[in-house]
Amino acid sequence: MNNSNPPSGDDAGAAVPAAALTFERSVAGRRAVDVPTWHGAATPPLPAHLLRESLALPELSQGELVRYYSDLASRNFGIDTGSYPLGSCTMKYNPKVDDLLASLPGFTELHPLAPEGLAQGTLAVLYELQQALGEITGLPAVSLAPAAGAQGELAGILMVKRALEERGELAQRRRVLVLDSAHGTNPATAAMAGFAVTELQSGGDGRIDEPALRAILDETVAAVMVTLPSTLGLWEPAIEAVARDIHAVGAYLYADGANLNAIVGRLRFGDVGFDVAHLNLHKTFSTPHGGGGPGAGPVLASAELARFLPTPVIERHESEGGGAVPGWRYALAAPPASIGRMQQFHGSVGVLLRAYAYLRTLGLEGLRAVSENAVLNANYLRELLLPYYDLPFPTRVLHEVVFSATRQRREHGIRAYDIAKRLIDHGVHPPTVYFPLIVEEALMIEPTETESRESIERVAAAFIAIAEEAARDPEALHAAPTTAPIGRLDEALAARQPDLRWRAPGT
Ligand SMILES: Cc1ncc(COP(=O)(O)O)c(C=O)c1O
Repeated sequence: MNNSNPPSGDDAGAAVPAAALTFERSVAGRRAVDVPTWHGAATPPLPAHLLRESLALPELSQGELVRYYSDLASRNFGIDTGSYPLGSCTMKYNPKVDDLLASLPGFTELHPLAPEGLAQGTLAVLYELQQALGEITGLPAVSLAPAAGAQGELAGILMVKRALEERGELAQRRRVLVLDSAHGTNPATAAMAGFAVTELQSGGDGRIDEPALRAILDETVAAVMVTLPSTLGLWEPAIEAVARDIHAVGAYLYADGANLNAIVGRLRFGDVGFDVAHLNLHKTFSTPHGGGGPGAGPVLASAELARFLPTPVIERHESEGGGAVPGWRYALAAPPASIGRMQQFHGSVGVLLRAYAYLRTLGLEGLRAVSENAVLNANYLRELLLPYYDLPFPTRVLHEVVFSATRQRREHGIRAYDIAKRLIDHGVHPPTVYFPLIVEEALMIEPTETESRESIERVAAAFIAIAEEAARDPEALHAAPTTAPIGRLDEALAARQPDLRWRAPGT
């Protein structure tokens, strides 16, 4: 990505011309054709009264269209381009074979409204995925329906709510405890489910402060949400005692399982006392999710909470007939006291299929290698960067490590944001910055299990070069990135007034 003649940071157009939109490339009468699959009979042309002449669609030849998308692709940074150590997001390499399997026509051509009898193959796969995730987490009741981690969380806390309602304790249990290091979706979930959020301060070591938790636990608590390992990449050694404390007051323990890649194949949430959890399949199980989607956030629970799972769950019944799997029939079912649907249809099936392919190709030994490498890589990077950046919680980590740019800010006026932007000039995607909120100038780095030793060393070299540059030439860092198609943006303006829609000149 380094450029021998970089444009200035804020003059994006100078070296790399802005991508012309398809509308701007359009020439009347040009056509790009795609030959549809032949299904036997020619489709009759649409009746004339359904055709519109007035729609201003771009008109491009196939060659121009290909160039347009290639141009866009070359401006994108993705995991297939380079290292992407975006902490918490787990931007790892996802095997292409998983895409291939999820793209088999038997899956992709299935209509979401197809009757169960015609969807037996897909349902069989989804059933097996449910079973496998239940096995991996020790929480046997599973619904694959939620479309993202945040939706899985909401499903889990709504299940807790329904369970408390049945117990006749909902009026009394109004609080959900959330750690101050949690992802923002945790308090948002609790609030959306109608609970009051009580923030629990982490202890001085960044972990759950067990005595402080015990002091505020009482019968007004509905649930405690714990991310394991935490967003600081830390293990919670007191988790089993914490679970006992929580159960002793009749509350539920929720696991935010978005960081499962640190422990997969080694530790099961159900075995250490969690009652309900969600996973982020798009992080741990092989779906590239840069750019915001798609995702899948299955919710998993103990047998006690199974009756509240969102709809649908996949059931398997013995059958005389010879369906997709002889002797079995698969059905979409609604648990008896279900919280209802989280979204239309049955979940993000493409993401679920990739997760299934990933699980089946790796097996248990492969999954153990995932967590081993995730932890090894994060600790290697931690060692390499330790002399150059402050580490607020100076212990070994699991899958990610949170450094701080306080030293660079104090000594050179350089902030985490400047470091993140400069990494782009080094061909490395920025880490997550300013999160978790309890770390000042946070640089949250997750190398992931799929980076090689050499690529981790390249990432470290970029961070180290920037730390040295901060001392030598801080102004250069304020101007970064200088090699990207677009330099520094007014991010607040871009977020509040996004310019997303093309308008014809003069309109
Ligand atoms: C720890 C943690 N919890 C929850 C979520 C929410 O997941 P999603 O973005 O799929 O809604 C994330 C997302 O990055 C996360 O890192």
